[in-house]
Amino acid sequence: MGEIVIRRGTRKDLAKIPEILMESYKGIEEYGEENIDKARKYIEDLYEEDPECFFVAEIDGEIVGFIFCNRFWYSKFEHSRVGAIHEIVVLPSHRHEGIGKLLIDTAIKELGAGKVELWVGEKNEKAIKFYEKLGFEKKETAGKWIRMVMRK
Ligand SMILES: CC(C)(COP(=O)(O)OP(=O)(O)OC[C@H]1O[C@@H](n2cnc3c(N)ncnc32)[C@H](O)[C@@H]1OP(=O)(O)O)[C@@H](O)C(=O)NCCC(=O)NCCS
Repeated sequence: MGEIVIRRGTRKDLAKIPEILMESYKGIEEYGEENIDKARKYIEDLYEEDPECFFVAEIDGEIVGFIFCNRFWYSKFEHSRVGAIHEIVVLPSHRHEGIGKLLIDTAIKELGAGKVELWVGEKNEKAIKFYEKLGFEKKETAGKWIRMVMRK
């Protein structure tokens, strides 16, 4: 298997991202996008929020995962600006290779000092465990979502 390369994503990369998103949410559809058209719109909106905070993981030139973060997110719960991780996805065929951790580490560096916030589906146990291992703590619940925070 080729080397894992993490690099900043570009607008051109966006074309491939919705399909990877849909594939990666199989089995946890209730937390994903309803269809590919909604996924395209969602991804476009995430990118526009903070284009500098989009990273992709590549193996042999193929995107196998990505992360969208935001350096300027206003958290209603923290009553201040925090760093946010809005989406992270690794293709099922490349899970448990450390790619998720590499993407989170890259985003956290980009987000700089201070807290990092994210929301995860309450039944998405795999992701919750993954975040806890990386130092995030569970906070409030809102509907089917749980807020998690890391203090750096
Ligand atoms: C959550 C997600 C991004 C994690 O990605 P990943 O690339 O599998 O993450 P990592 O490989 O860094 O870590 C996953 C596990 O593999 C283990 N691992 C890491 N490197 C490893 C290696 N070289 N060999 C064996 N295991 C390894 C980690 O310790 C971790 O263990 P855990 O399952 O006990 O938490 C991925 O499961 C995913 O895309 N899920 C669907 C989308 C989703 O839920 N996103 C979050 C929305 S809030």
